[in-house]
Amino acid sequence: MKIVAMGRALPQYVLDNQELSGMVETNDEWITTRTGICQRHIAKGETVVALASQAARQALAQSGVPLESIGVVIVCTFTPDTATPSMACMVQKELGLPQTVLAFDLNAACSGFVYGLAVAEALMDRQGCHALVIGGELLSRLVDYTDRSTCILFGDGAGAAVVSPAGSRTVTDFGADGNAELLSGGGYNINGGREPLRMNGREVFRFAVSTVPGSIRRVVEQAGCTLEEVDHFVLHQANHRITEGVARHLGVNLDRFYENIVHTGNTSAASIPLALWEMQEKDLLHPGDRLVLAGFGGGLTWGAMLLNW
Ligand code: UT7
Repeated sequence: MKIVAMGRALPQYVLDNQELSGMVETNDEWITTRTGICQRHIAKGETVVALASQAARQALAQSGVPLESIGVVIVCTFTPDTATPSMACMVQKELGLPQTVLAFDLNAACSGFVYGLAVAEALMDRQGCHALVIGGELLSRLVDYTDRSTCILFGDGAGAAVVSPAGSRTVTDFGADGNAELLSGGGYNINGGREPLRMNGREVFRFAVSTVPGSIRRVVEQAGCTLEEVDHFVLHQANHRITEGVARHLGVNLDRFYENIVHTGNTSAASIPLALWEMQEKDLLHPGDRLVLAGFGGGLTWGAMLLNW
């Protein structure tokens, strides 16, 4: 499987730490030192479908892949505009993709994009086609802006990848451990209202730093290479200190981990494709580069993937 091109879309409105400090009892220094986040984009009228479609259009235009070659559309999200139609079906309509596409949403929270790429790889084999894999989230829908332990973290956005069946097989490692105590939200309460996002940040932090390094080691070992031979590590952007912790556990220099959390915050399933888009824009990705992607979060879920650019 090969990622042919990336696209991205961010809402116009930027909510910075200064403004948040006027909404809850917090301050720029606390947020920056504890998370690495300075600002996040927040939707004011934009929808998941609109952002996902914009990102997908950009990726398709850059890829040169004709619409008729797209046979699979996966939108990875746990904050869809509607449960049905799925966001993937709406992207099919917005972009005028063939009605023969297999289109569906995938909910693996912050691991969504890595799960989505793996599912797309398997489906492309069956269908003999290209795929669109999109991570699109409006976390601001579920955030309680009176809860300072969560509202400082999350942002909105979408990143899209056009994926081709050409190239070498990816190597993956996945896991799930049902747990509503550490992170939950988006269900309906007794009055039919949406439950906001609730998180035990400290425990989720521990889970991430203790689970992700092992998952990365397993994909590297399975691929028959070493950590030194990996060109870029692209982790879900949850907290700069989580990335630091993972790098320390692996004994890998932090400068091989791409980070953009400073200006996008935690965008769940969108965070890895948003980072890949930026890396492509900055010309950091070259044919044959070995990448390890790692998602982790709600579910709990985690997933690492080694692929060649
Ligand atoms: O996307 C995947 C899912 N999510 C994550 O991966 C998030 C993982 N967790 C985290 O990123 C961090 O745990 C947080 C950023 C959420 C919290 O950072 P922390 O260093 O774990 O802080 P803490 O929860 O241990 O709180 C430390 C102190 C507490 O005060 P006391 O009890 O020590 O007096 C909190 O009340 O910081 C206080 N605090 C704040 N202070 C100012 C918590 N939130 C804030 C805030 N501003 N926004």
